Amino acid sequence: MDAIRIYGGKCLEGQTRIQGSKNASLPVLAATLLIKGTCEIENCPEISDVYHMLRLLESLGCKVVREGTLVRINTEQLSECDMPADSVGVMRSSIMLLGALLARLGGVKMEYPGGCVIGARPIDLHLRSLRNMGVRVEEREDGFSAYAGRLKGTRHRLPFISVGVTENLILAAVLAEGTTVIEPAAREPEIQTLCEFLVRAGAKIEGIGSGCLTIQGVDRLFPVRFGVPADRIAAGTYLAACMCAGGQVFLQGAPVSHMESVLLQARRMGAGLTLEENGILVTCRKKPAGCGQLVTGCYPAFPTDMQSLFMVAMAVSDQPGWIEERVFENRFRIVPELRKMGAEITVRENRAYICGRGGLHGAIVQAEELRGGAALVAAGLAAQGTSIVTNRHYIDRGYEDIVSSFRELGAEIEPA
Ligand code: UD1
Repeated sequence: MDAIRIYGGKCLEGQTRIQGSKNASLPVLAATLLIKGTCEIENCPEISDVYHMLRLLESLGCKVVREGTLVRINTEQLSECDMPADSVGVMRSSIMLLGALLARLGGVKMEYPGGCVIGARPIDLHLRSLRNMGVRVEEREDGFSAYAGRLKGTRHRLPFISVGVTENLILAAVLAEGTTVIEPAAREPEIQTLCEFLVRAGAKIEGIGSGCLTIQGVDRLFPVRFGVPADRIAAGTYLAACMCAGGQVFLQGAPVSHMESVLLQARRMGAGLTLEENGILVTCRKKPAGCGQLVTGCYPAFPTDMQSLFMVAMAVSDQPGWIEERVFENRFRIVPELRKMGAEITVRENRAYICGRGGLHGAIVQAEELRGGAALVAAGLAAQGTSIVTNRHYIDRGYEDIVSSFRELGAEIEPA
């Protein structure tokens, strides 16, 4: 049952509630390691990446109790510093535990982290920046060990913007000695959420939401109860699927203020959007219009995580367009799969040229990463005939239950 069968060519109609954010909950869960006592995290999505993160926390000695989307984490008995290789191996965000564990325990031994295969995704900048805070790193072929006394605040001038590095440095800095400056810091909403969580717990962080964060280390943090915001990428996924298949859907709880570039792009491609207090009403009565060009970038630019979904919308349109990927070098992995469904797409370096042939047909296709997998499901919904998307486990890393959500939206879709 690692596949999804879709009977396509039917408009979407209905409403679905948007889950809590994956990319916000993972660093917040890592941050609980910095706090002695029990933190309660609400609206934590029930996805496999969260499951792996909780397993990692348990393996480090945390007591984890989960009641649906509420997670209680007690970090009183933290001890173990060797992390289970299988969980580290599947999830890149396990690197986030590095800064937190060094701050709390002074040492950590781990394998190189995994995650979606969407480019080289090295961790060189993580390690280099932490070395600047007094961390000794010993690299091995399959992993590394890192040690430090109390971390030392420092001024980081990063060569490029990285979400993960910014998060790791925040986690390392909140309990460090002295002041840490991170510049340029990533400005993704998930970074703001992490900072808000830490400030509630007693951290001193200035410049939240800007490209320069200043963190004054404190001696300790205190347990809090905290709610994770809705997932802007999941909301964008259902929006894009409606653009591809047509219809009218209400995205309950969609975080409108964090979706500006995606909403702008959707409007450009002809989607009708009514922004309401508790969500977004999406109306797509015609095929998507061509959008000409689309360039991904760091927030607030168009998110790389939404790129493959909009590629499907462009393939369904009957006008040509191109996408330039500026964050990850290998994020066009769905192109050969979309070709099986009749799409005409040419890739040259970091640009994909989409012919826009007005429609797709059903096929058996293979998910190779999380967002690409969701995009193939959207393609299946838009296509004439039946499609099967294999490797569902990639999709389950980030979506609570994509089959049920699309069923709420009237799709004919089932596990296969
Ligand atoms: C995070 C998100 C991911 C999103 C990405 C970009 C989480 C769990 N994941 O991933 O969904 O697509 O931001 O918005 O929040 N790089 C290096 N060396 C390093 C670190 C990064 O070269 O040490 C490169 C990467 O290969 C990539 C670029 O920097 O080309 C940006 O990556 P980064 O922002 O770090 O992405 P992640 O934090 O992995």
